[in-house]
Amino acid sequence: MIKIQIPATSANLGSGFDCLGVALNMYNYIWIEEDDTINISSKDDIKIPTDKTNLIYESAQRLYEECGKKLPGLSIIQENNIPMTRGLGSSSACIVGGLIGANRFLGSPLSRNDLVNLACKIEGHPDNTTPALLGGLVTSAMENGRVYSVSVPVAEHIRFGVFIPPFELKTETARGALPNEYSRENAVYNLSRSALMTAALFSGSLDNLRVAVQDSLHQPFRKKFIKGIDTVFRMSYELGSYGTYISGAGPSIIAIIDDTLEEQFQKYAIAHLEARGVEGWQFKALSTDEEGAKIVLE
Ligand code: HSE
Repeated sequence: MIKIQIPATSANLGSGFDCLGVALNMYNYIWIEEDDTINISSKDDIKIPTDKTNLIYESAQRLYEECGKKLPGLSIIQENNIPMTRGLGSSSACIVGGLIGANRFLGSPLSRNDLVNLACKIEGHPDNTTPALLGGLVTSAMENGRVYSVSVPVAEHIRFGVFIPPFELKTETARGALPNEYSRENAVYNLSRSALMTAALFSGSLDNLRVAVQDSLHQPFRKKFIKGIDTVFRMSYELGSYGTYISGAGPSIIAIIDDTLEEQFQKYAIAHLEARGVEGWQFKALSTDEEGAKIVLE
């Protein structure tokens, strides 16, 4: 069996709807090998599909099809450290893991770029799958079904303070709440801020982040699904967040902080939420994963 490590990802970063994403140092692990049958299990208590509808299996099968091969079966063991349906890229991790495994079994016919394109086709948008594959802070654009992307490192002192709620939010539901049309004013508002976000995270210019996380395309319409969101935002700014945003489609919330604030957040964030009646949330301070998914054991 080979063992694959895939990072969590945070998409959008507020203003970069469907185009920005960052890989984080929280990982799912997959042990996988070709087999005559389908044999899927989990190392933890998390319930996963154990038949052909398993997303790792489906993604591996898709790669075989693209290469004109038939997948006989797979043995898969999952270790799921990325919380599911929380806006932290758990489904992208499955897609990317399945593709990397399948590609290796076929002798690596697809390049990393090919994998980026195929992963995006399966997921529907590139802002989680591309950073999961490339690592770092990734800007992606789609043109004629192809992903054009650049990964850059995030300034070393930046941390992502992740608030994970005790409830799930399906991406489908969160996307369903968005309008079909926006004004030019809204478009310019987000364009300018997402460009600022990339430059600010790359250069470590923290003072720009409060403006760079603002957006008018998705967060205002998704707030209603996230109970306690106003308290989490307010409290994160009180503790010193440079910019707070809904991670991906939500419901997790991320406060961008630096290494000097990490201890303060670890110590007080959850206690302050509970004192204000927002119960059951978890907090983790994460760094950027700069490498992306990889095979860690052959
Ligand atoms: N860009 C996507 C969204 C990320 O906001 O809907 C979630 O997969």
